Amino acid sequence: MNNTDSRLTTDAARAAQVLRNGGLIGMPTETVYGLGADAGNAQAVARIFSAKRRPADHPLIVHIHRPEQIRQWARDVPTAAWQLAEAFWPGPLTMVLPRVPGVLDVVTGGLDTVALRVPSHPLALDLLARFGGGVAAPSANRHGRVSPTTAQHVRSEFGDAIDMLLDGGPCRVGIESTIVDFVDEGVRILRPGSITTQDLRRVTRRTVLDRADPTVRRPGAMTSHYAPRATVVLTTAEEALAALETSRRTGARAGLLSAYRPEHLPPDVPWLSLGAASEQQAQQLYALLRLADDLGLDVLVAVPPRDEGLGTALRDRLVRAAGLGDGRVFADCQPAAGKTR
Ligand code: TXA
Ligand code: MG
Repeated sequence: MNNTDSRLTTDAARAAQVLRNGGLIGMPTETVYGLGADAGNAQAVARIFSAKRRPADHPLIVHIHRPEQIRQWARDVPTAAWQLAEAFWPGPLTMVLPRVPGVLDVVTGGLDTVALRVPSHPLALDLLARFGGGVAAPSANRHGRVSPTTAQHVRSEFGDAIDMLLDGGPCRVGIESTIVDFVDEGVRILRPGSITTQDLRRVTRRTVLDRADPTVRRPGAMTSHYAPRATVVLTTAEEALAALETSRRTGARAGLLSAYRPEHLPPDVPWLSLGAASEQQAQQLYALLRLADDLGLDVLVAVPPRDEGLGTALRDRLVRAAGLGDGRVFADCQPAAGKTR
């Protein structure tokens, strides 16, 4: 696919027609780009799995246009879910709810729940309004790799495997939605995102569990996810130069990803500036992980932001990019958590 390819468009009506025909589209959302298909068409949804090379039992998020459509997909919807929909939709929040019988197994991975979200990107909303039904869409990256935050990222990864690419510019949020489900105690965060624990507590006035029960299937809970080709090494601001030196001694080409540039950074070490504000850090994170690969880095030494607010989600993504599994591993093994090794 090149720039003059007629499959690259900003026309939501054309993209809706592709969905109706059982096609596969790249679509913008405010979080990351999605790889979308008609959630009511099993063959169309199956194409998502083959294009992504995603294991068949990984459930997909169904994108809908309006909160009232929850009822077409889910049953026994708790009050807290309606409160969250009212407060945060359209927006970067996904809710896992008991599904109604008609929802396809290929969408839910055979689970008796379904994940729903109303995205806030204007082109996504336009597309969903025109299409009318639900659009199943995972992030538009190959399984385990870095999520796309521009149409170009999608094109470079999927090119001819998709029927249309809706270009909505760079994503405003830059990391995937917060995913929650509902348990007796209150709201449980399955994946942290830009809607924070505090946001969820403020709106629902319920307990918010931010460590999922280890027996529950966790989104992206395999050890390596959001991963560039370069090996990601997590460290603290204080230890960043030493970590770079360790890598460089082995002959590796190393770069640094951090909010601040250390004073004594060797001039031949590429510095990937994460930016100081956490919103900006989220917007840039995935593009910077891709840049590490474009620069041909073997090792990316990264200083994660603090574990608060949006920083929690950024740390989560970096921990997984480093192949360290979930955030608990990080808390236990990092000097950043106030320990020394
Ligand atoms: O921001 C986002 O959420 C983006 C945009 C495109 O909307 N989508 C996204 O999709 O990140 P994906 O497939 O990359 O991640 C969705 C996660 C998966 O890890 C999946 O396991 C989890 O949601 N998920 C989906 N349905 C679920 C369910 N019924 N129960 C538990 N987890 C579920
Ligand atoms: Mg994904």
